[in-house]
Amino acid sequence: MITHRLHGSEIFIGEKALSLIPDWLSSHVKSKRVFVLVDDQTELSCLPIFISAMQGRYEVIKIAIPAGERNKTLELCAYVWNRLLDQKAVKSDVLITLGGGMITDLGGLAASLYKRGMRFIHVPTSLMGMTDAAIGGKTAVDFNNIKNAIGLFSSPKAIFIDPIFLKTLPKREIANGWAEVVKHALIADNTIWDELPADASAVPDFDLLLRSIAVKVLVVQEDFEEKGRRKILNFGHTVGHAIETIHLESRNVLLHGEAIVWGMLIESEIAKHLKLIREDEAQQIQEKLLSFFDPDPLKTMNSEQLLHFLLQDKKNERNTILFSLISDIGSCTWNCEVDKEIILLAVKKFISLQ
Ligand code: GLY
Repeated sequence: MITHRLHGSEIFIGEKALSLIPDWLSSHVKSKRVFVLVDDQTELSCLPIFISAMQGRYEVIKIAIPAGERNKTLELCAYVWNRLLDQKAVKSDVLITLGGGMITDLGGLAASLYKRGMRFIHVPTSLMGMTDAAIGGKTAVDFNNIKNAIGLFSSPKAIFIDPIFLKTLPKREIANGWAEVVKHALIADNTIWDELPADASAVPDFDLLLRSIAVKVLVVQEDFEEKGRRKILNFGHTVGHAIETIHLESRNVLLHGEAIVWGMLIESEIAKHLKLIREDEAQQIQEKLLSFFDPDPLKTMNSEQLLHFLLQDKKNERNTILFSLISDIGSCTWNCEVDKEIILLAVKKFISLQ
């Protein structure tokens, strides 16, 4: 079992990490019941595995919400609070989030605000959750069509990462998670980049998963509140979030990782225009991203709408558009101001603009 400590969280990673939960609970919690937040997908594919790992030692009170980023709303957060109130949950109870990034983001926020802070632990079930979303204390819901507009930094007491859940994921979800693994490679660990398999269809091996998690843990350990270096985790996300936000309104569901792949393609092109990386490096990175992910083409995008959402990004300061951009494979710089003309030039290479 691999363990880390991160800003008040104990992290356990390994096969059978789930089986550690009952003992962890008995040494941290008096109550004999736990609240488990699931979505309608993890309720079917992951909750039975979770309940069997609890060995009947705790009563599991399920709170289920619909899956998908468009349900990461204040309304569903209020639904969780209502369920907790119905059950007379107290601060010292524990909310366990069992799901991907949407569940850990929303559940972390719901628990952090309930009665000024109920304890919570994350059990990420997606590759995206294991390697990124569950680690680092970010909690949020989307609001007024702005991704993660309402949220706070709040650490779970523990995170249990058990690869057993990766077997429950459809191929599209695996590829979604690979986007963050590849991002970690590009910003901080070129050995991961060198060892990427041919494509994003298979679950990463355990060693690669550990190294990707280690990138996230080390960066957050250095800068929990994202005042500086943590911003490197936003590589691909400035453009990616704008694309994702534009798609929130459309019928075609675009997963977070899919938007981030387009974000990494476009932001590597911006890095080239700023001469942070050489032309041949940008080409090598972009060819690898395109062959590894084989992303579905994006529909034509309205350039005004794209710039509008880029300017709304919470990473911006003083109404300029700030980027975290790679300066080599395995290193990244942040707070790069980029002119709108360069952004549009880079976007146009990959997406038709109106
Ligand atoms: N997902 C980026 C971060 O946690 O900072």
